[in-house]
Amino acid sequence: MTFSMAEFITDLRAVAKQPDAEAQVKGILQAAIADPETLAAALPHYPENDTVLYEDDGLSVWHVRFTPGVNVPPHEHRIPAFIGLYRGQERNDFYQLTTAETLQHSGYQVLEPGDLLVMGVAAIHAVTCVSARPCCGLHVYLGKLTTVERSLFHPQTHARMPFTEENYALLQQLIR
Ligand SMILES: [Fe+2]
Repeated sequence: MTFSMAEFITDLRAVAKQPDAEAQVKGILQAAIADPETLAAALPHYPENDTVLYEDDGLSVWHVRFTPGVNVPPHEHRIPAFIGLYRGQERNDFYQLTTAETLQHSGYQVLEPGDLLVMGVAAIHAVTCVSARPCCGLHVYLGKLTTVERSLFHPQTHARMPFTEENYALLQQLIR
């Protein structure tokens, strides 16, 4: 099986506004990452760690790379999120909001190449690249992630903060 990014995006665009978009996106992403080495070989080297490959009002497609040891502080997306890993090992810690401002750790999942993680609109997660290799994945969101007003949460105090580049960098330094 070969992988074509153009076809991948075309297929996602065709289903993103369907009533069963979540199930369809899951299937398309699952197929894309089913053979992680084939996918890796078909992708270019993306110079940036975060690359927006496509976005419109109902769909975002990103390539995301985390370097080993990187911690991403707890955050929300507020739109359905689909994470397909094809390289590395990525630990996802999940949280729930018990009151408006208090996070409770609710579990974790370690993704291996070929694994898919689906998160609903209320999901809050933190990510750690736990492998010696970078963690690389295709991320699909049912919405325009770059325009969603969303939150980060302080890893110790759990205080809610706006998701801005400045706050993201600040919290990353705290958990290193
Ligand atoms: Fe995330």
